[in-house]
Amino acid sequence: MISRIKRDLGLFFLALVLSALAGIVTFKLGALDRYAVRRVQELAQERTQEWNNHWLGIPVLQYPSDLLSYQELIANVRPDVIIETGTSAGGSAVYFSMLLEVLKPAARVVTVDILPALWQRTLAERSTELARLFAHIAFVEGGSTEPETLRRVSAHLRPGDKVLVLLDSAHSKEHVLAEINAYAPLVTVGSYLVVTDTHLDGTHWVDHAEGPMAATRAFLATHPEFQVAAEWNRFFLSACPGGFLRRVR
Ligand SMILES: C[S@@+](CC[C@H](N)C(=O)[O-])C[C@H]1O[C@@H](n2cnc3c(N)ncnc32)[C@H](O)[C@@H]1O
Repeated sequence: MISRIKRDLGLFFLALVLSALAGIVTFKLGALDRYAVRRVQELAQERTQEWNNHWLGIPVLQYPSDLLSYQELIANVRPDVIIETGTSAGGSAVYFSMLLEVLKPAARVVTVDILPALWQRTLAERSTELARLFAHIAFVEGGSTEPETLRRVSAHLRPGDKVLVLLDSAHSKEHVLAEINAYAPLVTVGSYLVVTDTHLDGTHWVDHAEGPMAATRAFLATHPEFQVAAEWNRFFLSACPGGFLRRVR
Protein backbone atom coordinates (compact mmCIF):
# COMPACT_ATOMS: atom_id res chain seq x y z
CA MET A 1 0.00 0.00 0.00
CA ILE A 2 2.76 2.44 1.05
CA SER A 3 4.77 1.64 -2.06
CA ARG A 4 1.66 2.39 -4.24
CA ILE A 5 1.20 5.77 -2.57
CA LYS A 6 4.92 6.44 -3.09
CA ARG A 7 4.62 5.49 -6.78
CA ASP A 8 1.50 7.67 -7.30
CA LEU A 9 3.15 10.59 -5.56
CA GLY A 10 6.23 10.08 -7.72
CA LEU A 11 4.11 10.06 -10.88
CA PHE A 12 2.24 13.13 -9.67
CA PHE A 13 5.47 15.07 -9.12
CA LEU A 14 6.87 13.87 -12.43
CA ALA A 15 3.73 15.15 -14.18
CA LEU A 16 4.06 18.42 -12.28
CA VAL A 17 7.70 18.83 -13.32
CA LEU A 18 6.92 17.91 -16.97
CA SER A 19 4.06 20.40 -17.23
CA ALA A 20 6.20 23.09 -15.60
CA LEU A 21 8.94 22.32 -18.15
CA ALA A 22 6.42 22.44 -20.99
CA GLY A 23 5.26 25.82 -19.71
CA ILE A 24 8.83 27.11 -19.51
CA VAL A 25 9.63 25.83 -23.01
CA THR A 26 6.47 27.40 -24.43
CA PHE A 27 7.28 30.71 -22.75
CA LYS A 28 10.93 30.50 -23.79
CA LEU A 29 10.00 29.83 -27.40
CA GLY A 30 7.78 32.91 -27.43
CA ALA A 31 10.54 34.98 -25.88
CA LEU A 32 13.15 33.42 -28.17
CA ASP A 33 11.03 34.17 -31.22
CA ARG A 34 10.69 37.77 -30.16
CA TYR A 35 14.42 37.98 -29.49
CA ALA A 36 15.23 36.43 -32.87
CA VAL A 37 13.04 38.93 -34.74
CA ARG A 38 14.53 41.82 -32.76
CA ARG A 39 18.07 40.60 -33.45
CA VAL A 40 17.48 40.20 -37.19
CA GLN A 41 16.06 43.71 -37.16
CA GLU A 42 19.12 45.06 -35.35
CA LEU A 43 21.50 43.28 -37.69
CA ALA A 44 19.59 44.51 -40.72
CA GLN A 45 19.68 48.07 -39.46
CA GLU A 46 23.08 48.38 -37.88
CA ARG A 47 25.19 46.12 -40.06
CA THR A 48 23.68 46.07 -43.51
CA GLN A 49 21.49 49.18 -43.35
CA GLU A 50 18.72 47.25 -44.95
CA TRP A 51 16.61 50.39 -45.18
CA ASN A 52 19.28 51.97 -47.37
CA ASN A 53 17.60 50.84 -50.58
CA HIS A 54 16.81 52.46 -53.90
CA TRP A 55 13.78 52.53 -56.12
CA LEU A 56 14.61 53.41 -59.73
CA GLY A 57 17.91 54.74 -58.36
CA ILE A 58 16.26 57.02 -55.75
CA PRO A 59 16.97 56.31 -52.07
CA VAL A 60 13.95 54.68 -50.45
CA LEU A 61 14.20 54.26 -46.69
CA GLN A 62 12.01 51.18 -46.43
CA TYR A 63 12.54 47.49 -45.87
CA PRO A 64 11.98 45.37 -49.01
CA SER A 65 9.36 43.36 -47.14
CA ASP A 66 7.41 46.52 -46.29
CA LEU A 67 7.53 47.66 -49.91
CA LEU A 68 5.86 44.40 -50.90
CA SER A 69 3.24 44.86 -48.18
CA TYR A 70 2.56 48.43 -49.35
CA GLN A 71 2.18 47.17 -52.91
CA GLU A 72 -0.37 44.56 -51.82
CA LEU A 73 -2.16 47.12 -49.65
CA ILE A 74 -2.38 49.67 -52.45
CA ALA A 75 -3.54 47.06 -54.97
CA ASN A 76 -6.17 46.03 -52.44
CA VAL A 77 -7.43 49.49 -51.44
CA ARG A 78 -6.87 51.29 -54.78
CA PRO A 79 -6.77 54.73 -53.17
CA ASP A 80 -7.36 57.93 -55.12
CA VAL A 81 -4.84 59.71 -52.93
CA ILE A 82 -1.89 58.52 -50.87
CA ILE A 83 -0.75 61.09 -48.33
CA GLU A 84 2.78 60.55 -47.06
CA THR A 85 4.58 62.51 -44.36
CA GLY A 86 8.36 62.30 -44.73
CA THR A 87 9.46 62.53 -48.37
CA SER A 88 13.23 62.55 -48.00
CA ALA A 89 14.65 61.91 -51.49
CA GLY A 90 11.26 60.70 -52.68
CA GLY A 91 11.91 57.00 -53.21
CA SER A 92 8.67 55.94 -51.52
CA ALA A 93 6.64 58.69 -53.21
CA VAL A 94 7.95 57.58 -56.61
CA TYR A 95 7.26 53.94 -55.72
CA PHE A 96 3.64 54.78 -54.81
CA SER A 97 3.27 56.90 -57.92
CA MET A 98 4.49 54.05 -60.12
CA LEU A 99 2.01 51.63 -58.56
CA LEU A 100 -0.85 54.08 -58.91
CA GLU A 101 0.02 54.82 -62.51
CA VAL A 102 -0.61 51.17 -63.31
CA LEU A 103 -3.54 50.57 -60.96
CA LYS A 104 -5.37 53.90 -61.06
CA PRO A 105 -3.87 56.45 -63.45
CA ALA A 106 -5.88 59.41 -62.12
CA ALA A 107 -4.71 58.79 -58.55
CA ARG A 108 -2.02 60.91 -56.91
CA VAL A 109 0.51 61.10 -54.11
CA VAL A 110 0.71 64.06 -51.75
CA THR A 111 4.01 64.00 -49.90
CA VAL A 112 5.13 66.33 -47.10
CA ASP A 113 8.58 67.22 -45.83
CA ILE A 114 9.95 69.98 -43.67
CA LEU A 115 13.23 69.84 -45.66
CA PRO A 116 12.74 70.07 -49.42
CA ALA A 117 16.38 69.79 -50.58
CA LEU A 118 16.60 66.04 -51.22
CA TRP A 119 13.31 65.92 -53.10
CA GLN A 120 14.29 68.96 -55.15
CA ARG A 121 17.53 67.26 -56.10
CA THR A 122 15.65 64.15 -57.21
CA LEU A 123 13.32 66.32 -59.28
CA ALA A 124 16.22 68.17 -60.87
CA GLU A 125 18.28 65.09 -61.64
CA ARG A 126 15.49 62.85 -62.94
CA SER A 127 12.98 65.31 -64.38
CA THR A 128 13.14 64.06 -67.96
CA GLU A 129 13.30 60.36 -67.30
CA LEU A 130 10.65 60.21 -64.56
CA ALA A 131 8.38 63.06 -65.66
CA ARG A 132 5.41 60.72 -65.96
CA LEU A 133 5.76 59.59 -62.36
CA PHE A 134 6.51 63.04 -60.98
CA ALA A 135 3.29 64.28 -62.59
CA HIS A 136 1.28 62.26 -60.05
CA ILE A 137 3.19 63.65 -57.07
CA ALA A 138 2.41 66.87 -55.21
CA PHE A 139 5.11 67.96 -52.78
CA VAL A 140 4.09 70.07 -49.79
CA GLU A 141 6.92 71.75 -47.91
CA GLY A 142 6.35 72.25 -44.18
CA GLY A 143 6.12 70.69 -40.76
CA SER A 144 3.63 67.86 -41.09
CA THR A 145 1.48 68.96 -38.15
CA GLU A 146 1.48 72.69 -38.92
CA PRO A 147 -2.03 74.00 -39.65
CA GLU A 148 -0.84 75.61 -42.90
CA THR A 149 0.69 72.30 -44.08
CA LEU A 150 -2.53 70.44 -43.26
CA ARG A 151 -4.53 73.07 -45.15
CA ARG A 152 -2.30 72.66 -48.22
CA VAL A 153 -2.47 68.86 -48.05
CA SER A 154 -6.27 68.91 -47.70
CA ALA A 155 -6.50 71.21 -50.72
CA HIS A 156 -5.40 68.24 -52.85
CA LEU A 157 -8.39 66.14 -51.78
CA ARG A 158 -11.64 66.02 -53.72
CA PRO A 159 -15.04 64.91 -52.42
CA GLY A 160 -15.37 61.13 -52.65
CA ASP A 161 -11.62 60.47 -52.79
CA LYS A 162 -10.48 57.23 -51.20
CA VAL A 163 -7.54 58.28 -49.02
CA LEU A 164 -4.67 56.22 -47.61
CA VAL A 165 -2.15 57.83 -45.24
CA LEU A 166 1.40 56.75 -44.44
CA LEU A 167 3.28 58.53 -41.64
CA ASP A 168 7.06 58.43 -42.01
CA SER A 169 8.55 61.66 -40.68
CA ALA A 170 9.96 62.34 -37.18
CA HIS A 171 9.79 59.54 -34.61
CA SER A 172 9.12 60.99 -31.15
CA LYS A 173 5.92 59.80 -29.49
CA GLU A 174 4.62 63.36 -29.23
CA HIS A 175 5.18 64.13 -32.90
CA VAL A 176 3.75 60.86 -34.17
CA LEU A 177 0.68 61.17 -31.93
CA ALA A 178 0.11 64.72 -33.20
CA GLU A 179 0.48 63.45 -36.78
CA ILE A 180 -1.90 60.54 -36.22
CA ASN A 181 -4.51 62.86 -34.72
CA ALA A 182 -4.10 65.31 -37.59
CA TYR A 183 -4.18 62.82 -40.48
CA ALA A 184 -6.45 60.01 -39.21
CA PRO A 185 -9.62 62.00 -39.98
CA LEU A 186 -8.54 62.14 -43.66
CA VAL A 187 -8.44 58.33 -43.96
CA THR A 188 -11.59 56.96 -45.57
CA VAL A 189 -13.51 53.99 -44.19
CA GLY A 190 -12.03 50.73 -45.51
CA SER A 191 -8.67 52.38 -46.11
CA TYR A 192 -5.61 52.55 -43.87
CA LEU A 193 -3.42 54.73 -41.74
CA VAL A 194 0.08 53.26 -41.77
CA VAL A 195 2.31 54.33 -38.90
CA THR A 196 5.88 53.45 -39.80
CA ASP A 197 8.88 52.99 -37.52
CA THR A 198 6.85 51.40 -34.73
CA HIS A 199 9.83 49.04 -34.36
CA LEU A 200 11.98 51.88 -33.06
CA ASP A 201 10.43 52.29 -29.61
CA GLY A 202 13.06 51.87 -26.89
CA THR A 203 16.00 51.95 -29.32
CA HIS A 204 18.65 54.63 -29.66
CA TRP A 205 16.78 55.94 -32.72
CA VAL A 206 14.27 57.47 -30.27
CA ASP A 207 16.73 58.11 -27.41
CA HIS A 208 15.67 54.81 -25.82
CA ALA A 209 12.29 56.37 -25.16
CA GLU A 210 8.75 55.80 -26.39
CA GLY A 211 8.12 56.42 -30.07
CA PRO A 212 5.69 55.59 -32.88
CA MET A 213 4.48 52.36 -31.26
CA ALA A 214 3.51 54.14 -28.02
CA ALA A 215 1.83 56.89 -30.03
CA THR A 216 -0.14 54.30 -32.00
CA ARG A 217 -1.30 52.53 -28.84
CA ALA A 218 -2.32 55.81 -27.21
CA PHE A 219 -4.37 56.71 -30.29
CA LEU A 220 -6.03 53.31 -30.58
CA ALA A 221 -7.11 53.42 -26.93
CA THR A 222 -9.57 56.21 -27.74
CA HIS A 223 -10.31 55.57 -31.44
CA PRO A 224 -12.22 52.31 -31.96
CA GLU A 225 -12.87 53.35 -35.56
CA PHE A 226 -9.31 52.17 -36.27
CA GLN A 227 -8.15 48.58 -35.77
CA VAL A 228 -4.72 47.00 -36.10
CA ALA A 229 -4.67 44.94 -39.31
CA ALA A 230 -2.02 42.37 -38.45
CA GLU A 231 -2.31 40.56 -41.78
CA TRP A 232 -0.09 43.24 -43.37
CA ASN A 233 2.69 42.31 -40.94
CA ARG A 234 3.23 38.78 -42.09
CA PHE A 235 6.92 39.39 -42.81
CA PHE A 236 8.92 39.50 -39.61
CA LEU A 237 11.32 42.13 -40.87
CA SER A 238 9.15 45.24 -40.81
CA ALA A 239 9.48 48.87 -39.81
CA CYS A 240 5.80 49.01 -38.94
CA PRO A 241 4.80 46.09 -36.69
CA GLY A 242 1.29 46.83 -35.44
CA GLY A 243 1.34 49.99 -37.54
CA PHE A 244 -1.20 49.10 -40.23
CA LEU A 245 -4.45 50.57 -38.93
CA ARG A 246 -7.65 49.90 -40.85
CA ARG A 247 -10.46 52.40 -40.58
CA VAL A 248 -13.54 50.30 -39.93
CA ARG A 249 -16.13 53.07 -39.51
C1 LIG B 1 12.50 58.45 -42.80
S1 LIG B 1 12.61 59.86 -43.82
C2 LIG B 1 11.34 59.56 -45.00
C3 LIG B 1 11.70 58.43 -45.92
C4 LIG B 1 10.85 58.28 -47.14
N1 LIG B 1 9.44 58.14 -46.83
C5 LIG B 1 11.31 57.06 -47.88
O1 LIG B 1 10.73 55.99 -47.70
O2 LIG B 1 12.28 57.16 -48.63
C6 LIG B 1 11.96 61.09 -42.78
C7 LIG B 1 11.77 62.47 -43.39
O3 LIG B 1 10.88 63.19 -42.51
C8 LIG B 1 11.22 64.54 -42.57
N2 LIG B 1 10.69 65.20 -41.36
C9 LIG B 1 11.21 65.19 -40.11
N3 LIG B 1 10.43 65.91 -39.30
C10 LIG B 1 9.39 66.37 -40.03
C11 LIG B 1 8.25 67.15 -39.74
N4 LIG B 1 8.01 67.64 -38.51
N5 LIG B 1 7.39 67.41 -40.74
C12 LIG B 1 7.61 66.93 -42.00
N6 LIG B 1 8.67 66.20 -42.32
C13 LIG B 1 9.56 65.90 -41.35
C14 LIG B 1 12.74 64.55 -42.68
O4 LIG B 1 13.17 65.77 -43.26
C15 LIG B 1 13.02 63.31 -43.52
O5 LIG B 1 13.20 63.67 -44.89
